[in-house]
Amino acid sequence: DTVDWDPEDAGKGEYDHYMLKEIHTQPTALSNTIEGRVEDGDVAFEDLPAGTFSDVDTVQFVACGTSYHAAMYGAQLLRSAGVRTDVVRASEYASKTGPVDDATLVVAVTQSGETADTLDAVRKATDRGARSLAVTNVVGSTAAREADDAVYIRAGPEVGVAATKTFSSQAVTLALLSQRIAADVPEAAAAADRETMLEDLTDLPEHVETVLETTDAEGIAREFHDSDSYFFIGNGLGHPVALEGALKFKEITYEHAEGFAAGELKHGPLALVTDETPVFAVATSGDDEKTKTNAIEAQTRGAPIVAVCPDDHPLVDVAEVHLSIPDTHPVWAGLLANVQLQLVSYHAADLLERPIDKPRNLAKSVTVE
Ligand code: G6P
Repeated sequence: DTVDWDPEDAGKGEYDHYMLKEIHTQPTALSNTIEGRVEDGDVAFEDLPAGTFSDVDTVQFVACGTSYHAAMYGAQLLRSAGVRTDVVRASEYASKTGPVDDATLVVAVTQSGETADTLDAVRKATDRGARSLAVTNVVGSTAAREADDAVYIRAGPEVGVAATKTFSSQAVTLALLSQRIAADVPEAAAAADRETMLEDLTDLPEHVETVLETTDAEGIAREFHDSDSYFFIGNGLGHPVALEGALKFKEITYEHAEGFAAGELKHGPLALVTDETPVFAVATSGDDEKTKTNAIEAQTRGAPIVAVCPDDHPLVDVAEVHLSIPDTHPVWAGLLANVQLQLVSYHAADLLERPIDKPRNLAKSVTVE
């Protein structure tokens, strides 16, 4: 269930930074992630045959940082398929977990498979009888070895401290896993539009390529990179993407950036909005009217709006600037929006001359609690 990596992959090649290289590797990484996991119009995981999850009634996702945002993505899809789902920051698991028993599946989402908080959360859950599944990039990692089952995201090695391609591969793996789990859990139902969703997944690597070839993220970074603060908003699947966009931005630019559920903007953060605080509004062509109305609220207070959405989305008419994403199923559109935001962060950090691959105070994997 793994892929062999060319040792030459270890170099930066034609790119100035590993982060940029890893952003550009996403079409290949995603093809590897998807390979063999959609068969005859259905989701298949070699080691998780039909029936694997028939004893599960609750799924708890635990994760940190970028992996937490991917977990939110997966949790939302699983919940909308009718499965009782929690998503908990691993460092808070001990206090926030709620009931756990042998019908609980704890899913640890961890790129490295070595994050201490995440490993600790899984151990606490399994001590209480839960079954565990690791979703990781690293074969043989502690999470993979300790969990009852492991699913590999197959993104290839990631060197940049700021996670990019692994987020995309995690989100795709979790979207597929949500369908696999829902198919087994009594009373759950697979997504009504699963067929279109899986069909459109085949085009995702190509759509990422289109974003990489046509993006104006650099121009937008140039226009806004001396602002006071940066906000990222979205609702539904746009919410985890907004949080991830803000995390990436603060990690590598050292500028203040925050992500919000679009509807929460008016419950506090709006006090910070001025004409010096650009708002990146993520919409995936699904049900995201809230993102539009709240973007307008920010705009009324002077904030420039950057719409990150397909060309035909109503948000485009509201926004000053538009980062375009190809038309596709809303589940994958969020990931294309995320690629645009990765590029905005990268170019803003580059203009500010930050050490992009090794931001101050941060480590690729945090092995202390
Ligand atoms: C560190 C890294 C983040 C990463 C998080 C979780 O904070 O700097 O980029 O998202 O750990 O890591 P994991 O390996 O568990 O996904």
